[in-house]
Amino acid sequence: MGNEHILEVKNLVVHYLTARGPLPAVNDVSFSIEKGRIVGVVGESGSGKTTLALAILRQLPRLTRIHKGSVMFYGIDLVKLSEKEMNEIRWKKISYVPQAALNALNPTMKIIDHFIETGNAHGINDKKLIVEKAVEIMKMLNLESERVLYGYPHELSGGMKQRVLIALSMIFEPELLILDEPTTALDLLTQRLILDLIKDLHRRTHMTVMFITHDIATIADIADDVIVMYAGKLMEKGDVFTVFKNPHHPYTKALMSSIPDLTGDINKMRSIPGSLPDLINPPSGCIFHPRCPYAFEKCKREEPPAVEIKPGHVVSCWLYSEQ
Ligand SMILES: Nc1ncnc2c1ncn2[C@@H]1O[C@H](COP(=O)(O)OP(=O)(O)OP(=O)(O)O)[C@@H](O)[C@H]1O
Ligand SMILES: [Mg+2]
Repeated sequence: MGNEHILEVKNLVVHYLTARGPLPAVNDVSFSIEKGRIVGVVGESGSGKTTLALAILRQLPRLTRIHKGSVMFYGIDLVKLSEKEMNEIRWKKISYVPQAALNALNPTMKIIDHFIETGNAHGINDKKLIVEKAVEIMKMLNLESERVLYGYPHELSGGMKQRVLIALSMIFEPELLILDEPTTALDLLTQRLILDLIKDLHRRTHMTVMFITHDIATIADIADDVIVMYAGKLMEKGDVFTVFKNPHHPYTKALMSSIPDLTGDINKMRSIPGSLPDLINPPSGCIFHPRCPYAFEKCKREEPPAVEIKPGHVVSCWLYSEQ
């Protein structure tokens, strides 16, 4: 397999401009995504996952700035594109299924009209073509297209709505699909079903997927590579096998120990003590040090660099970069 990079994010910094000052929700994050892989992005609530996705798509809310860095997509820096050029990329090349999107479908519109409207919005006015494409993708997602297309959103279960949203995001056969917590709002059985369908879709289309979740167990299930984020910072990244077999960062270890073990002993499930720091006035040194059981003096003073401890396996922690 070639290792062509479809996306390369370099030193990305994203600020929400707040009354108290700039809030760096993504802070000096660098990683690349290899074509055809499923890359999981994991971290607790507030770690900057959604902000990262919105920055890649340049779909950030008002009063938010990409302060620094680049997002290279096939060698083109998306940060520098005009709004018009960016519109040619969104949906067509990179598509996004937002977090908590289940209620984003218009209740007064039939599902088929959502597809037609999305097509129209991006310059495809051939209804027949759009419907053909919709049927093809819905089939891959195990949706009965005749019934679903001519129904209204309220007639669909959560799992069906999520599949419709994924199908909608795929009508232009994007190269990169970003799914933001696609299973979070669903019951366990439906989560399982959606994960299997995404894996199946990935096998058939070979598209590249960025899969955002706060649940590290889901990452083990679906992703090839993992990016662990905390408080806007990248803590660890690597291929899932390596990182899960041998997690280095204390934060990754803590996330992993929160997975209930196979015996289902709920008492063994630990959550990570403490909470996210104030990002406007962050702690000095390593941003995780106030919660880190291994922190030593240097961690309080200096920020650890991201160090590649093995090809492709990167850790930002003084435990591994102290020379
Ligand atoms: N519009 C906004 N204005 C100001 N701060 C914001 C805004 N949106 C997000 N933030 C802050 O940015 C940080 C990162 O938020 P983000 O939503 O990217 O995290 P997340 O990892 O996606 O969390 P979750 O798992 O809850 O979806 C948080 O501290 C959050 O409070
Ligand atoms: Mg989010």
